[in-house]
Amino acid sequence: MTSTPAETTRNDTSEADEWISTHKESINERYRLGYHLMPPVGWMNDPNGLVYFKGLYHAFYQHHPYTSEWGPMHWGHATSTDMVHWVDRPVALAPGDGSDRDGCYSGSAVVEGDTLNLIYTGQIFNTGDIEPFNSDFSESQNLAISRDGTHFEKYAGNPVIPGPPSDNTQNFRDPKVWKHNDTWYVVIGSTSAEDDARALLYSSPDLHTWQLEGNLAQSDHKIGNMWECPDFFELDGMHILMMSPVGLEADGHRYRNVFQSGYIAGDFDYQTLQLAHGDFEELDRGHDFYAPQTFEAPDGRRICFGWMNMWLTPMPEQKDGWAGAFTLPRELKYVDGKVTMTPVKELESLRGSVLTDCERSVTNGDVIVSPDENRFELLFSVDNLQVHADNLGLAFDLGNGIKASFVYDSGQELLTFDRGGKDGERSWECGTLEHLDLHIYVDNSSIEIFVNNGLATFTSRIYPTAPARVTLLSSADSVKAGIQSYALN
Ligand code: FRU
Repeated sequence: MTSTPAETTRNDTSEADEWISTHKESINERYRLGYHLMPPVGWMNDPNGLVYFKGLYHAFYQHHPYTSEWGPMHWGHATSTDMVHWVDRPVALAPGDGSDRDGCYSGSAVVEGDTLNLIYTGQIFNTGDIEPFNSDFSESQNLAISRDGTHFEKYAGNPVIPGPPSDNTQNFRDPKVWKHNDTWYVVIGSTSAEDDARALLYSSPDLHTWQLEGNLAQSDHKIGNMWECPDFFELDGMHILMMSPVGLEADGHRYRNVFQSGYIAGDFDYQTLQLAHGDFEELDRGHDFYAPQTFEAPDGRRICFGWMNMWLTPMPEQKDGWAGAFTLPRELKYVDGKVTMTPVKELESLRGSVLTDCERSVTNGDVIVSPDENRFELLFSVDNLQVHADNLGLAFDLGNGIKASFVYDSGQELLTFDRGGKDGERSWECGTLEHLDLHIYVDNSSIEIFVNNGLATFTSRIYPTAPARVTLLSSADSVKAGIQSYALN
């Protein structure tokens, strides 16, 4: 794993950039999204290095440009002035140098003076077989630096953290860095020698030399055996450790995806470096939400993007030369003991023609909105749920017999999104709801449903063949509903 400084600073992205520019026109557009960040061509997974630097929002992502399958990981890159409209930038990191020979895995970005610093995991497969679930690997933490926000040089002293402590397995990845007072901290996803998930904490005066401080938190065999993509931040006075646990068994309506993502919330003491925290809570209730990462916008908002897909599940767009997308940017808040997610206000700039704007009585089967294109936003609200039906919700006719629905069942106290097909349902035990306020974004092959001001979200990929026709599902005679909807540009 030793390397010469010349090797470690190479970061030759030209081959990847060349490939992207000659192949991006060749993809099939049928499932492309209109206002979400996607790779121009090839594969995308986790959001990486979300940051605001020199007047622009920067988003990086796990990227394999050459095929629509996961492969040797690069960092794709896009910038935006508003988190909504993105411009593709040259690839930021290419693997192949010393400690990142087989991949530049997930990580984060921080601004130090006038430099943008990427901290990422360098991946080496000891057997040389590059595939995502190959279990014989070595992981280290590495640094790359840019002054212009476009070109990145790998630090000649890489790796800055060569490997995990001795009481760890080889799982040691996805560094998320932040600064508190004058000290840098990094949290790293890992698995202890007892096969327990944990978040390791290191500190540094300068991003180059790091000292192990211990566990920020551990699973105690309750929250899986590996926490991918940990993130640690303060939110409305609480300390939140967000992570994507691997190895959690399904439990009733919870943990139904292949891997999960969620958080624990509590109080962190910077003197003792201890986090006193509550129970694990899932962040999103849909099928396609993983590896969320947050950053602080210049105005102090805590913004989160997730990967809008799930490992080991079908991705029909792979046939079309690409795969993967980010969720919409979401503002996080901590309200009544829960992290809430709402779409950022900048998304209002997408609004085109008003499709509906009324408050009226509707009955089962009534059309709520029937847009010309599958790029729309729908706000749907009903008060006094208790005097209404047992079941209330929306049906989505997506063409060719493809159907989806979102329903509140007051008897079972469940909210359920059903996208149809095998394993189509995802539910959240919502308790008794007084009112239902749905804020829904459909973008061709995605749906994001924000419930009651972000108390719950459901994020899923859907594969329609026609613009959605949305109708009311209700067991009551009639329901008074507020309905607003917009075509989105
Ligand atoms: C999460 C993850 C990370 C890793 C990356 C590899 O989806 O498995 O742990 O860094 O993807 O692409």
